[in-house]
Amino acid sequence: MKRKLAAGNWKMNGTTASLAEVKSLVSGHAAPSVDILICPPATLIAQAAGICSKSPIMIGAQDCHAAPSGAHTGDLSAPMLADAGAGAVILGHSERRENHNETSDMVAQKAMAAHAAGLIAVVCLGESLAQREGAHTLDVIAEQLAGSLPDGATGANTVLAYEPIWAIGSGLTPTLAQIGEVHDFIRSLLGERFGAQAAQDFRLLYGGSVKPGNAAEIFATSNVDGALVGGASLKSSDFSPIIRALEA
Ligand code: 13P
Repeated sequence: MKRKLAAGNWKMNGTTASLAEVKSLVSGHAAPSVDILICPPATLIAQAAGICSKSPIMIGAQDCHAAPSGAHTGDLSAPMLADAGAGAVILGHSERRENHNETSDMVAQKAMAAHAAGLIAVVCLGESLAQREGAHTLDVIAEQLAGSLPDGATGANTVLAYEPIWAIGSGLTPTLAQIGEVHDFIRSLLGERFGAQAAQDFRLLYGGSVKPGNAAEIFATSNVDGALVGGASLKSSDFSPIIRALEA
């Protein structure tokens, strides 16, 4: 049985003072029945991983370079992140696709680098509002999924996160039917590429304005195996009830 996954993406938020939130999650979730991943900014990975060293909570990164080392000023490689204590890395978040012109092909290269370093790749997909309104959502998802996943992807080394861009940080969420439609579609595409059995092993997360108040209904939706949470992962008092809703 695959374990569900509650993942937090702190984005460009958090200083050493925020490590208190990690400590609080560690003490509040000593034996969770779901997997928990926190992705703080890279500056906090080593300290956060130290805090979680005796906890089942995993620490992750928010991006990596496709190369293991070299002349890439300001970048961090997957082996460096693993060395700092990360067990996973978010890749292809829409904010990186938009702000750093990341293409699906680049995301696939980074995913291969993550796998080679032993990191779980959390690969993000999602349509813009214009794409949804133009009825292109499923085409966009199919293109991003095909291009962003390397052939070596498995349910053990890769998690998919469906994050409609217009739902991120907006307080807007798709209807449960819309979430279910995309998650069912992703599962069927994984089945076509990797086989129906292997497709079942991938965790499919929903992300975009997940809060304590809407988590339970989202988690009850077809093919939703957890969440990738932004704003509501910054405070343990918000993230904990989301974790508990996933455990319920
Ligand atoms: P919010 O939960 O703040 O909408 O962010 C979602 C997200 O982008 C997580 O990666």
